[in-house]
Parts: sequence; structure tokens; C-alpha cells
Amino acid sequence: MNNTPVSRKTQAAQARVLADARVSASPRSRDQSLRVPESCSVVIFGASGDLAHRKLIPALYSLARGGLLPANLTVIGFGRKPKTDESFRDEMRRAVHEFSRSKPIDEPTWERFAQGLHYRQGDYDNQADYDALHQQLSEIEQAQGRCGNRLFYLATPPEAYETITGRIGATSLGKPCDNGWTRVIVEKPFGYDLESARALNAHLHRFFTEDQIYRIDHYLGKETVQNILVFRFANTIFEPIWNYQYVDHVQITVAEDLGVENRGAYYESAGVIRDIIQNHALQLLALIAMEPPAEFAADAVRNEKVKVLKALRVDSSRGDGTVRGQYGPGKVGGRMVPGYTQEEGVSPESTTETYLAMKLLCDNWRWSGVPFYVRSGKRLPRRVTEIAIQFKMPPLLLFSGAAAQQIEPNTLVLSIQPDESITLKFESKVPGTGDRIQPVLMNFDYGESFEMPAPDAYERLLLDCMLGDSTLFTRSDEVEAAWALITPVIERWRDNPHGFIELYRAGTWGPKQADDFIEADGRRWRAL
Ligand code: BG6
Repeated sequence: MNNTPVSRKTQAAQARVLADARVSASPRSRDQSLRVPESCSVVIFGASGDLAHRKLIPALYSLARGGLLPANLTVIGFGRKPKTDESFRDEMRRAVHEFSRSKPIDEPTWERFAQGLHYRQGDYDNQADYDALHQQLSEIEQAQGRCGNRLFYLATPPEAYETITGRIGATSLGKPCDNGWTRVIVEKPFGYDLESARALNAHLHRFFTEDQIYRIDHYLGKETVQNILVFRFANTIFEPIWNYQYVDHVQITVAEDLGVENRGAYYESAGVIRDIIQNHALQLLALIAMEPPAEFAADAVRNEKVKVLKALRVDSSRGDGTVRGQYGPGKVGGRMVPGYTQEEGVSPESTTETYLAMKLLCDNWRWSGVPFYVRSGKRLPRRVTEIAIQFKMPPLLLFSGAAAQQIEPNTLVLSIQPDESITLKFESKVPGTGDRIQPVLMNFDYGESFEMPAPDAYERLLLDCMLGDSTLFTRSDEVEAAWALITPVIERWRDNPHGFIELYRAGTWGPKQADDFIEADGRRWRAL
């Protein structure tokens, strides 16, 4: 497909569409959709950790730079390590310098932002530390003439979630007054299987109502992922063919070139099925497969996603419907990397999967019989996330001989990252007196069309939470429906741990068995 040329005519047509797109994305129309939350405080539990450094503080800073935060936003980092406000600010400045998408640092914005940045050392299970936090928040709120509006972000290891939310929920820290809001963002992994996810939901619901709980899946904050619903439901031409009558199959790929980095211990208990498939990949699938919601509102959208998740089943007509792999040593990006079992924190005997391919079927009217092939892995040749919808071949092939043999099915590819584009492949006659037919591409590229950088997923999600919009967060029944699908697979593996794990060389596209798996259906993984 990479060799498929984009014709000059298509480029010209694109240029015209681009011009229109620029008009509709003019600053005026963008400004109308800007929303600034009311004054509030954000408390980040696990403020010394990776997530706060790489994502949360840089995202808040970018929002501040875009004028999207209340002027007097307070951010309190809560962590176990001793730090002063000053040393925390210095550390966060370095994090913004390194990880922010908006460089260089804008000094006046940083100064304003840093004034509201504090650090509080505390133990997650020590009530006195929560009392002190409460005292600090109350003083800040009093000085700002408000009561409440507190966002608690759980950026800690999941083992601490129940302790922290229990401490917040059981005291006035979680319910300061009647007119201010309290919200909690819970990072993934949300649970370890269906039972633990249910237990965590039950625990959270003892202290908070569902509309106070924001379960984050950062894929939902990605611009290209949000665009799936716009692409499907703000256009007329795709929806009539978005079903079993026209679609042959769907391929969802979440490929990473990275290994487990310094997270070997976490990954050992997660594997790719918990780390990517149960959340990010199933969310992509749900957005592709869901029915149009009655309105674009949090519950209407999430109702439809839940229906999809409940209609999904793993196709076990051959084996258990999955191929598991684990990377061995190999070359990625031109350098030798160790195998998974040589990574720090990983058992040399580990049977944890770092690659998974699976075939899912969605038992509803729209998708009856259409396979959804999902694959994800670490240490693959490159980072690429995409959804490819492959349509059926024409019902009658009019073109004979060599020309007909070259006909390929239409494919619509929604590239999520690093390319941010939507591409439609269709057949075209090659100019000349012969009858040659060749696939060509119609391509939409975000960067070219809108000429502005996409915000980081965490920017959108933090802002939405401050604004009380939970559309891009997962609801309790949604997360449980995803676990209900995945847990039986994990249980089958647990009962047969050495059963089906295949080794693949780092820097390749996974085990050969994954190719055999899809080829047995007469299909092939897309070459990426
Ligand atoms: C995280 C996983 O949720 O997503 C990581 O825990 C993975 O293992 C990451 O690397 C991928 O996110 P992105 O945004 O880089 O595709």
C-alpha cells in the first residue's frame, strides 16, 4: 500500500478541500468552542511519579498557555517523597521543559502557573496527612472566595486507589460544601479482572456518585480518536456502508516499538491484554462499531459503547481465538535490545505475553459475521496505531484478465498515530490505451488540513473533567463489560500457562502463528 501513488488530480482535489477546511477552522470559529472551567483545585496523588512529570503537569501548563484554565488554578502535588514547594516547582519546570509540546517555556505563563503549584508530603494511609491537605485546600478556597471544586487525580500504583479514595470520601475532604464539586480521576489499570473491577467500582460508589468518577483511558483524549465519531456521524456517505453487507473485516493495530521500559514488574502482572487490549483497543473497537447515539452527550455515547462491548465475543471456532507472543532479543530502530525475560523486574521464566492477536465477533444486526482482528505488541518494528476497514470485493468483476487480478478491495484507514490521517484506497484505470487497473489513495491529513498542532490527550481530558464532561471517560458498566469479555481469555491462559506462548524476535511483526491465524481465514495483516 505504501507504494500506491496519490494521483495529481487527487492532490488538486485535496487542495480545494483544504482551502475550505481552512475557512471553517478559522480562529473565530475555534474560539467559539473554547470553554474555561470555574476556579478549582487539582490534587495529584503520586506527584513524584512518571505520569505527573511526563503528562499531567505539562498538560496543565499547556492549558494555561492556551488560556483555558481559571487564572487562580491551584495544583497540589501529594507524594511520599520529601520536597518543598520550591523544589517541586523546579522539578516541574524541568518536566515542562522536557515534555511539553509548547516550547520554549513561556515565562509569564510559567510564573503565573507556578504560583499556584504546591507540594505536600504525605503517606497515603495516614489520616493526619489528609487533614493537613484539607486544611490547606480550605485556606486556598477561602482566600479565593469559593468552597469546593476539587479534582483528585489518582496517579499512583493501583494498590493505593482504595486507600486514597476511602480517605477522601470518608472525610469532609471529599464533600466540603453543597455548592462546590468534587471529582476523582482514576488512572488505568482499573481492576485486574472482572471481579476486581467490580470490587473497585463498588468501593468508589460507597463514597462517590458515578458522575463524580472519571475513569481515564487516554486514547479517548487523542484528537484522531475523537474524530472517529465526527467522521462517522457528521457525514452521510460512510454510515450506509458501515455494516456486514459491505464490510469484509476490520483490523485494529496498536503497535509499539518500545519494550516494557522500566515497568517490568507492573507488566509482568498485566501483559498486553490488560495493558492495551482491555482498554485502548476495545475502546477503539467500540467507537468504530457503535450505533449513532441519540445525542452527543456522555451517557448517550457511553450507552452505545456498552452495547457493543456486550455484543462482542472472542471467536473460539479455532483454538481459543488468540495468538500470544513474547519478544526475544532483536534489533529495533537499528540497535540491539534485550528479550522480555532479560528486562529488569521480569522473571526469566515469565510467560507474560507482550504480543496478542485476537479475533472478535460482534453479535448484533449491524456486524453479524464480520471479524474484528485486533493485534497489539511491544518491540514491533515501529509505533503505529490504526483502524483499517476493509470492504468486500465488487459483486461482479467486469474486468477480465490481468486487470481483474490486480483489483484490491477498498480499504478505509483511520490512522491514529503517529500519522494522523484518514485514507481511502480505491481502484483506478491507469492512463493509456491498455486496461491496467491500479489502487490509488484519497488522503486527508490533519496537519496539512488544519495547520495547528493537536493538543495532548491529557490536556483535553483534564479540561473536560474540570468542566464536568465525562463523555471521554469510561463508565462503570463499560469497564465491567470490557473485563467480562477479557477475563475468560485470561482464565483460559492461566489454566494452561505454557500452552500457546510463541517467541518473536524484537523488531519483527510478532510471531508467525499470528500470520497463520489470519491467513486461515483467507485474509492478511496489513503491511505497516
Ligand atoms: C499505556 C500503556 O496505557 O499506553 C503503555 O500502559 C503504552 O504500556 C501506552 O506504552 C501507549 O500509549 P501511546 O499514547 O503512546 O500510544
